[in-house]
Amino acid sequence: MIKTAILTMSDKGSRGERIDGTGPALRRELEDKGFIISYYKMIPDEKQEIESELIYLCDELKVDLILTNGGTGFSQRDVTPEATQNVIEKYVPGIGEAMRMKSLAITPKAMLSRSIAGIRKKTLIINLPGSPKAAVENLGFILPAIPHGIEILKGEASECART
Ligand code: MTE
Repeated sequence: MIKTAILTMSDKGSRGERIDGTGPALRRELEDKGFIISYYKMIPDEKQEIESELIYLCDELKVDLILTNGGTGFSQRDVTPEATQNVIEKYVPGIGEAMRMKSLAITPKAMLSRSIAGIRKKTLIINLPGSPKAAVENLGFILPAIPHGIEILKGEASECART
């Protein structure tokens, strides 16, 4: 059971001017695969607000996994990777590398996502891009490795098999 939080970054969504299609799409993908969605929120693309939310989810709610979506591109308001960078203690570069490598086979625009992943305490934070299509595609590429990483993070698996 992987306790998961989904955070959708959207200025319009957080003002009630846009319905979030991505958060529910991610929830559908995860729920039948042993992930429990214990928290979901839409927040504006404000760096400080994103940082506070991430810290709360890691330090207080102690979720295993945070999936952010949106705010990884080039617009002035896209600050999700910067907020994530400010709260993590360790980078997990392979997750972003895998997402971009696999996504490039679908669209060259995949290289425009600046998403990162990292660990704060016992929580893994992963940035996904914002559209439902992009977020679900990227999630699919990384999902096979996530449960093992979380097990190690929680101390339920001490190391990778050496054979
Ligand atoms: N990755 C996949 N697999 N499929 C996509 O359609 N869209 C890209 C990219 N990654 C896309 C993708 C586009 S168009 C952008 S601008 C970036 O993700 C950043 O998205 P964001 O600003 O919504 O976070």
